[in-house]
Amino acid sequence: PLVPVLLSGGSGTRLWPLSREAYPKQFLPLVGNESMLQETWRRVAELAGAAPLVVANEEHRFMVAEQLRQAGARPAAILLEPVGRNTAPAIAVAALQATADGGDPLLLVLPSDHAVRDREGFHRAVRTASAAAGQGRLVTFGIVPTGPETGYGYIKAAPGDGVRPVERFVEKPDAETARAYVASGEYFWNSGMFLFRASRYLEELERFRPDILAACRRAFAGASRDADFVRLEREAFAASPSDSIDYAVMEKTGAASVLPVDVGWSDVGSWSALWEVAEHDAEGNAHHGDVVALGCRNTYAWTDRRLVALIGLEDVVVVDTDDALLVAHRDRVQEVKDVVAGLKRDG
Ligand code: GDD
Ligand code: MG
Repeated sequence: PLVPVLLSGGSGTRLWPLSREAYPKQFLPLVGNESMLQETWRRVAELAGAAPLVVANEEHRFMVAEQLRQAGARPAAILLEPVGRNTAPAIAVAALQATADGGDPLLLVLPSDHAVRDREGFHRAVRTASAAAGQGRLVTFGIVPTGPETGYGYIKAAPGDGVRPVERFVEKPDAETARAYVASGEYFWNSGMFLFRASRYLEELERFRPDILAACRRAFAGASRDADFVRLEREAFAASPSDSIDYAVMEKTGAASVLPVDVGWSDVGSWSALWEVAEHDAEGNAHHGDVVALGCRNTYAWTDRRLVALIGLEDVVVVDTDDALLVAHRDRVQEVKDVVAGLKRDG
């Protein structure tokens, strides 16, 4: 069986003012009518054949449970983290849960805040990758880079087709290195989606980060359970070092493989990325909610309350919320993180 693991613990501040710590982007209907978490479940529902495992922050437990219920997902468990310790521990506790009954399923690890346009293509890719994963490979899905982004993992694949061994995995290189990788034409981006046997991930984590695995084992053993919720033991989980699967395992393991895919993937990391994945009119405008645009080109507007009207604008992003309004040039939306940092500083 294939068990989807939905990672739902991030706090996407690059989509301010919509995405906040209390209400991060995976819980918002940013692409389509349902929240990104719900869309993620839809993407794998037919493929899975087993109930999903969800890993989220304790604070978000009601929102997670309610959204999954609405989408018709019946999670095998919702693992609750008392504090965020990044993805290496989050995936570890999912793997411990998946193997607790003596089974050893394939885990399809998915960020719950990404968009994939071509669902069929994605299903084909997962099926293709399943054989290698079944044989003990840690498979990731590679994306042809479109620029020297420094927020991604870079993967050099061995020559060949289909699922190939990874020759090199470099998480978040500096700008100069990223430019060289893209220029070489030999590197893929890591999409952040993974497929492997639960036991294989635990073995590799044991090998490279026994400290993380030990803390996760303690937190899992001491967990309290009520209904679907598995509350990880606070002290033990908090004592785990914070690290991502990319640094903790994927950069180091000799068992990594990559399957290049072209499935309309986006990690929706900014308002301009959202503009790209949204449906556009003939002039390139994309809107969510009650928006009127006259004589505009390449604008993006988001509102879920009052009417927003744009006249004669180009390359402008407008996001209207209850307590904040963003108006920005489309090329500078990355700078919302500076606004957020400023707000935090000023209290
Ligand atoms: N449960 C849980 N707990 N989920 C988490 C935590 C945590 O502590 N931290 C992050 N996540 C979730 C996020 O919500 C997101 O869905 C996913 O795990 C990945 O975390 P990010 O923080 O978004 O990672 P990243 O974007 O910096 O980098 C990863 O994704 C890139 C592609 O988007 C890496 O895998 C890169 O190599 C990759 O290129
Ligand atoms: Mg991300």
